[in-house]
Amino acid sequence: MHADIAKVLIAEEQIKVRVRDLGAQISADYRDVGNLLLVGVLKGCAMFMMDLVREIDIPVAFDFIAVASYGQSTESSGVVRILKDLDTDLAGRNALIIEDIIDSGMTLAYLRGQLLRRSPASLRICTLLNKPDRRTADVPVDYLGFNIPNEFVVGYGLDYAERYRNLPYIGVLKPEVYRDAAH
Ligand code: IMP
Ligand code: MG
Repeated sequence: MHADIAKVLIAEEQIKVRVRDLGAQISADYRDVGNLLLVGVLKGCAMFMMDLVREIDIPVAFDFIAVASYGQSTESSGVVRILKDLDTDLAGRNALIIEDIIDSGMTLAYLRGQLLRRSPASLRICTLLNKPDRRTADVPVDYLGFNIPNEFVVGYGLDYAERYRNLPYIGVLKPEVYRDAAH
């Protein structure tokens, strides 16, 4: 285990099993619907999305969007700036947003609103992790990997100050490693 990690919350093998289940569920749900487009929210989605897409056994396209919250705070303001937009026209597509984690939900609520204006045939949300205790914005979660307690986690794409994304598990960061990354 990495020296900065207090404990492993979700082991590599558990993630693998859950991602396989989600892939099967998504494949079944969209098999007769078709025109599936995964919309990955960079950068945290990277590991999850690349593993998930390999567990989907129906025709699927994917694209990425990168967003940033306005302001410096670790708490979401809810106003989001698009740093890198999709290349794909969403009109008529069955879009599925792929997120690493939903905390307050503010980021995703805003992004969802923006994407809905582009007239997708459908728009659903898939997140690997969810912190239900922290939710302030109302976002419908259609596919969920794991509910987790209100602790700051890293690994499997999730970072603290751009570090730890490469850990193969989800771990709780030792509090002394960060100062003001609240929650
Ligand atoms: P929200 O708008 O509060 O839902 O913010 C969600 C975003 O905050 C995620 O996409 C992550 O980038 C970040 N975030 C929230 N909780 C954590 C965590 O425990 N570890 C790493 N990043 C987190
Ligand atoms: Mg994120």
